[in-house]
Amino acid sequence: MKYSKIIIKHFKNPKNMGEIKNPDAVGKAGNPICGDTMKIYLKVKNNKIEDIKFQTLGCAVAIAMTSILTDIAKGKTLKAASKIKPDDLLKGVEDVPKSKIHCSVLAHQALKNAIKNYKAKK
Ligand code: FES
Repeated sequence: MKYSKIIIKHFKNPKNMGEIKNPDAVGKAGNPICGDTMKIYLKVKNNKIEDIKFQTLGCAVAIAMTSILTDIAKGKTLKAASKIKPDDLLKGVEDVPKSKIHCSVLAHQALKNAIKNYKAKK
């Protein structure tokens, strides 16, 4: 499978990869068919995502999508972050194979679950 330069860049050098100690929220998502799993950690201050990190066990596109997602979400208010759509992750990333579109949906789901987890704690 051939990937675009942007996918390879984020896969080889992912942004915001890792774990946040004492996070304000955690969101998980997994796809039972491909087996990929993602975890998103949030630090929230004044309703803004002050810090966001991810751990992804999965394919190159799954790692690239969570990297792009965290880049987009960092610094946003929770309200603005909850409006991020899977399509937003694919913008500017050419040639994502059809079989890999679900990787963006999975990353989106992990963020959604993290925001849900944050709200449930409040
Ligand atoms: S192949 Fe399933 S998330 Fe990438």
